[in-house]
Amino acid sequence: MKKIISVVGARPNFMKIAPIHRAFLKYKDQVQHLICHTGQHYDEKMSKVFFDDLELPKPDFYLGVGSGSHAEQTAKVMIEFEKILLKEKPDLVLVVGDVNSTIACSLTAAKLHIKIVHVEAGLRSFDKNMPEEINRVLTDRISDYLFVTEKSGLENLKHEGVDYSKVFFVGNVMIDSLAYYLNKTNGRMLDKFGLEPQNYILVTLHRPSNVDSKEQLTKLFGMLDRISQKRKILFPIHPRTLKNLKEYSLLDESNKNLILTEPIGYIDFLSLTKNAELILTDSGGIQEESTYLGVQCITLRTSTERPITVEVGTNQLLGNDLDKAENAALEILNGNRKPGKIPELWDGKAAERIAEILIQKLN
Ligand code: UD1
Repeated sequence: MKKIISVVGARPNFMKIAPIHRAFLKYKDQVQHLICHTGQHYDEKMSKVFFDDLELPKPDFYLGVGSGSHAEQTAKVMIEFEKILLKEKPDLVLVVGDVNSTIACSLTAAKLHIKIVHVEAGLRSFDKNMPEEINRVLTDRISDYLFVTEKSGLENLKHEGVDYSKVFFVGNVMIDSLAYYLNKTNGRMLDKFGLEPQNYILVTLHRPSNVDSKEQLTKLFGMLDRISQKRKILFPIHPRTLKNLKEYSLLDESNKNLILTEPIGYIDFLSLTKNAELILTDSGGIQEESTYLGVQCITLRTSTERPITVEVGTNQLLGNDLDKAENAALEILNGNRKPGKIPELWDGKAAERIAEILIQKLN
């Protein structure tokens, strides 16, 4: 019996591991698939609700590392994960995405000569100010099997000289979860917040470049205030953003058209995404989810590691220039919508492809 340990740490990891876990269950006579949760995200609303929604089993290992500086968080994960690897001796360690837990666990496995699988390999924003970019580049460099979601990933890895026999274009496991759970969505959240389908804006902002400076955060809220005169806005607030809003005394709930709320679980958030007229975000995953659902999306970042969402999808990358973003939002509310298509291989079967390839490689 072969053994694979998959790693989850932060919110965007859970929906990527769920379809992979399901796919490995088909081979349970050949491979034992174990899940290690590093505890990078630990709040009920950032973690547990996702395990429930996504029908993930309780993790086999919980490292409980919590928050800290990048070095502290990465180091703590490495120290704890090494103990698990020494005891369990897995054949493969599987990591997803680009969070600190991704690089911490890959690096730990590499030093113990355990093969690494990176799901969502090859994405590049070419912006080293993003901690995720460093995590992506380094994880890919030491991975043994690299599973890619979009064509740009193939080109980036080729350009970096990665041995192509290790690279597989399989599609997008995050979209596997979306496709699987779409029919479980309901109108609960719309009722709760008094929203009508196609008649509200959904906002998520948590990147340091948008929320860590008082000046940018003040400008962002000025823009949201103005746009909220045209449409209701729902803004589930990430813990990092909330902390900064409080610190800068910017938390103001007097505008009834700008609804601030706590982070929302997977299926409820999917319902809100599906029914939104427009999404304003700096998230990576939401750029992909909105593209799949054909929902208009404005990304408030200067670069995207997911260019397919702009090339063929409904996403517009508008940088940190908020005047430009505000104008684009008003255009969309006036009916000038960007047409979009679903990218190649985003068909709900990426995890099945990954499991099939890995089973072949393990045998
Ligand atoms: C991390 C990822 C980012 C991802 C995001 C999704 C890295 C480098 N970044 O950023 O790519 O888009 O998750 O959410 O890994 N906090 C809580 N409760 C929690 C988790 C965090 O209160 O459950 C607060 C803490 O104050 C913490 C801060 O949020 O210091 C930031 O958390 P952290 O895990 O460092 O990074 P994120 O900003 O969440």
